[in-house]
Parts: sequence; C-alpha cells; structure tokens
Amino acid sequence: MERLKVAVFASGRGSDFQSLIDARDKGELDVDLVLLVSNRPGAMCIERAKKAGIDTFVLDHHGMEREEWEERVEVELRKKGVNFIVLAGFMRLLSASFVSRWRNKIINIHPALLPSFPGVHAHRDALDYGVKVTGLTIHFVDEKMDHGPVIFQYPVWVKDDDTEESLSQRVLEQEHIWYPRVLQWIAEGRVEVQGRLVKVRGITDSERAPWQ
Ligand code: GAR
Repeated sequence: MERLKVAVFASGRGSDFQSLIDARDKGELDVDLVLLVSNRPGAMCIERAKKAGIDTFVLDHHGMEREEWEERVEVELRKKGVNFIVLAGFMRLLSASFVSRWRNKIINIHPALLPSFPGVHAHRDALDYGVKVTGLTIHFVDEKMDHGPVIFQYPVWVKDDDTEESLSQRVLEQEHIWYPRVLQWIAEGRVEVQGRLVKVRGITDSERAPWQ
C-alpha cells in the first residue's frame, strides 16, 4: 500500500481538519497531510493549516466554471504528489469527471446517518423530522451529493430539548474521534470497496460498533 499523501478540502471552520492534524501529531494517523485546499479565502481552516505548517491552495470559486476550479486544483495536487483527498466541511459538489478520476480516493464526512438527511441542513432536517437517533457517516465520494459507498457510521441520540447547535456539537465530538480513525484504516490498506459495499479487513465488532 502506497503511503497516503493527503489533500484536505475544506470551506469553513475546519474543526474536522484539525482533528486530522491532532491525530497525526499524536502518532495515531500515519499519513502525510500535504495540502489544504479551500474555495473560501479567509476561512478558519486556512489559519489552521498555516499553524500546522501545511501548505495551502486557496482559490475562490466565484465567477469560475466548476471544471476550471478543479483543473487548477489538480495542478496543485500533482505538484504535491497527492494520492488521496479528504473532504472536511467542503461545501461544494465535485464534478462527475473529477470524481471519476479520483474514484475511491475521496472520502467525505456527513453529520447524519445517510441516506437520511443529505445536504447542508442535516441537523435541522433531523430535528424537524423528529428522529430519535442521528449520527455521522463517513463515505467514499461518488457523482451524487452525500451518496457514495458507506465506510462507517456512528449513532448519536437526539434529546428532546436539542437545538441545531447542541446536536451538531455532540455529533461533531464523534466526527473528531472517527474521521482520523477511519482514515487510518484506509492508510493501513484495510478498506476494500466492491460496488456500494465497503469492508474493513480485520475490524472487530467492538471497533465497528462500539455502542453495542
Ligand atoms: C461537519 O459537521 C461536517 O460533517 C459537515 O460540515 C461540518 C464541518 O465542520 N459536512 C457536511 O455537511 C458535508 N455534507 P468543520 O468546518 O468544523 O470541520
């Protein structure tokens, strides 16, 4: 298994990105975080990268065709030898051609148990629906939004008095635990994809479903 040289794509606060940096620094995530790509100049994720000594490529997508943005990003990915992409709060759909060039080499984290509540208001939608359990999904990225093969899910109980903020906070705590772990499974070459079915070799029941 080739060592992972990872580009993280992020648009905002970057706390999921930070969880990867922290895990790497603690020796729990054995990948090279070589580049932070952002479409939002001024986003907090860029500061986090700079603090961690990770190179950044920031390109505002406004007034630009999706394909042009992606082509310019890919030039940077090639320069850095990137072989894997992690979306961490990256709020833009990637084109079908980009995704097909990076098939099973892009992962995303979504704050709901997909296929429930895709999109940008996952917590609001979960609360409005009245579900009692929500959670997070880590999945490979395909052509459709929040849709690709599921690698891992973790449930979070919805409390009667939850607000969007309180619920997102509790889900986020779990995101910060699980995103680095799942990326480490991939780095170890343990994650196999067959169509929509993803298997993690050598995973124990308590690793896969620690709430059981
Ligand atoms: C996270 O909750 C992540 O799951 C979500 O955006 C947040 C980013 O937070 N992603 C999506 O909704 C993707 N559909 P962060 O900027 O602090 O990492």
